[in-house]
Amino acid sequence: MSKLLLTKKEVEFVIDQLQNGQQLPDDLQYKLFPVKQKEYELVYGGKMRKEDILANEDGVSPVPLQVEKVFNGDGKGWNDNWRNMIVFGDNLQFLKTCYENKDPLIKNKIKGNVKLIYIDPPFGTGDEYEGNKGQTGYTAKSQGAEFVEFIRRRIIVAKEILSNDGFIIVRQAYNFGFEIKIILDEVFNKNNFRNEIIINKANKQGAIDKRFNPSTEFLFLYSKAHDSQINPLFKIRSKEVSWLDMHSPKENKYSHSINFHKRKFVAPKGRHWTFSQDRLNDLIKEQRIRVIDKNYVDVYGNKQKMILQYLMDNRETIESNWTDIPGYSFLTKYPTENSEPLLERVIKTATKEGDIVLDFFAGSGTTSSVAEKINRKWIVCDIGKLAFYTMQKRMLHIHKSKSIENPKKKYNKHSKTFITVNTGWYDLEKVFNLRQEKYCNFVMELFEVESFKNKKISGISIDGQKKDGFYCIIYPYWQFKNSSVDEEYLDDLHAHLGKKIGSRLYIIAPNNYVDFSFSYHEINNVRYYFLKVPYQIIKELHKKDFKKFRQPQSKGNVNDLEDAVGFHFMRQPQVKSAIKVNKDKVEIHIKEFYSDFTEEESGNDMENFESLAMVLIDKNFNDTAFELDDYYFAEDLLPKKKKSTEYEDNLKEELKKQKEIVINLSKNECGKKFMLVYVDIYGNEFKEKMILQ
Ligand SMILES: C[S@@+](CC[C@H](N)C(=O)[O-])C[C@H]1O[C@@H](n2cnc3c(N)ncnc32)[C@H](O)[C@@H]1O
Repeated sequence: MSKLLLTKKEVEFVIDQLQNGQQLPDDLQYKLFPVKQKEYELVYGGKMRKEDILANEDGVSPVPLQVEKVFNGDGKGWNDNWRNMIVFGDNLQFLKTCYENKDPLIKNKIKGNVKLIYIDPPFGTGDEYEGNKGQTGYTAKSQGAEFVEFIRRRIIVAKEILSNDGFIIVRQAYNFGFEIKIILDEVFNKNNFRNEIIINKANKQGAIDKRFNPSTEFLFLYSKAHDSQINPLFKIRSKEVSWLDMHSPKENKYSHSINFHKRKFVAPKGRHWTFSQDRLNDLIKEQRIRVIDKNYVDVYGNKQKMILQYLMDNRETIESNWTDIPGYSFLTKYPTENSEPLLERVIKTATKEGDIVLDFFAGSGTTSSVAEKINRKWIVCDIGKLAFYTMQKRMLHIHKSKSIENPKKKYNKHSKTFITVNTGWYDLEKVFNLRQEKYCNFVMELFEVESFKNKKISGISIDGQKKDGFYCIIYPYWQFKNSSVDEEYLDDLHAHLGKKIGSRLYIIAPNNYVDFSFSYHEINNVRYYFLKVPYQIIKELHKKDFKKFRQPQSKGNVNDLEDAVGFHFMRQPQVKSAIKVNKDKVEIHIKEFYSDFTEEESGNDMENFESLAMVLIDKNFNDTAFELDDYYFAEDLLPKKKKSTEYEDNLKEELKKQKEIVINLSKNECGKKFMLVYVDIYGNEFKEKMILQ
């Protein structure tokens, strides 16, 4: 047994902490339970033990999954009831939920069944970032050790949900690729490293006075077990195929002679026939064998006049250099979109039809698109709202995209059923199981509504008032088990309350009891706003700290790393907007945008537009699903000369100065209805349906 590394003082401290039920500081934990050093490993600050990560000692726990929407696609699904899914949220929370394997949505479906994980995480360019003028710019991106540990924690949990014969493929670049390789060696075992595959980078010519322009990136391929096999891949030979003599060096007594159309051929001296008789028979059927006139001396010293030749295969095996296909594509407007040919190879390397593919840094959803087209099951996850809506649209419009087998043709099929899922949302059961009074207090607190004791208008109970002075009622879902907040309910309410409530009334109701997908419904100039009971677990109930994850405000920051700890709950931002329609233009005038949250770091209220992350637009809304057509980051909405991507703080200052933000659309691009989704930096949405008169 090795000696305890703690001093006497530290021992006393540890006992004290344990007796008071307190956590031990990291350094003491390691002294108590030292990591068994492997031959070598990557050492850096903040590296947590695998066991602690899996035991959620990193503060990240499994979260309830909530189905947001079911998309029926072609109306058909998998025979075994599997449903493909797009998950919105932090991937570590999602992976831990899969690892825990309790949530009914995924129980026994994902853990141990994923055949391939493909990830293309951000490249951790934080400390390398240079402004476009060569200066080092400020960036909020994770850097160095923080980046490596961010990826490592996810890889550790991901390995646990792979099937025993599964594979992982990780895309990286020179930035931190080599550190990540060592991490993969540690987690998956160096012996399970199969390949470094070289792929194309989008060709952006940078300065070349100090180094060559990096034109490639790479994929690391690892297996979970040492004996699992990949599928060999082939491609059409780039050079013209030709006829070759069918013999190879060195004599071999077992292949001295071979039969072609009942005639015996003897191999040339010092050589043997390249193929076995069986293989030759196959090639004959493929019409790839011919006989030509040629004089030679055979292995027995006899003169021969005719020899066998074969036609080269028009396919060649694919090796680890994949620079013959593009690494990126630009089909969606999402930055860093991987190319479909690349994902085709990735997926075909390690799966067959019906296998599950998981991508938890999914971006524009290239993995789901290709997996769907080549009949694999898929799960994709991303933390960005833009990514989420890009993927949703990509799957809804998949029939219009290119076929994988024949890229000159359209795919022409709708997707199979898929669901969109939120992570970190509140488990409704828990709220619903609260007694009625507790529920009311809970939701009033949640939405910051001051409660009234006994206020009634025209016989209808008014439960409270929001800070802006407008009234609020709590929809008594427990009385109406089989109905919901629909047009009929609102018409009835309006008939009673009419103009007695001013221009606005808030209705608090559980999300699944509200029939409207947008934020309010208007009747005769009174807007009925829905405050949907959030599903994200709140600090007060769970006694847990939480860190909200942020949405980027500019395209340059789409790839920032983000993670979430615990949960936060949705609160609609406040939006005031108006629409102006001219002869050929539609103008959306945004006059106000306030997040309902205070600034996470300072706790201060945020000023007008300061918290605006992006505006997403569906220009021809079909009343069922939001289908993203265009997006504008807050930065894109600044007057052109004020554009400022390099400094996040500058961007906020510029946003604050805006009196109004205008989005111009061309009228002929817009349908009768369109939907706008305004997103704040914490991912809260305000959805607004607009009708063009
Ligand atoms: C390089 S992009 C992936 C692009 C993708 N391969 C494609 O084909 O479009 C990386 C993605 O990781 C996402 N991301 C960053 N941190 C995340 C987290 N903690 N959980 C889930 N997704 C995250 C970003 O939003 C971004 O979309």
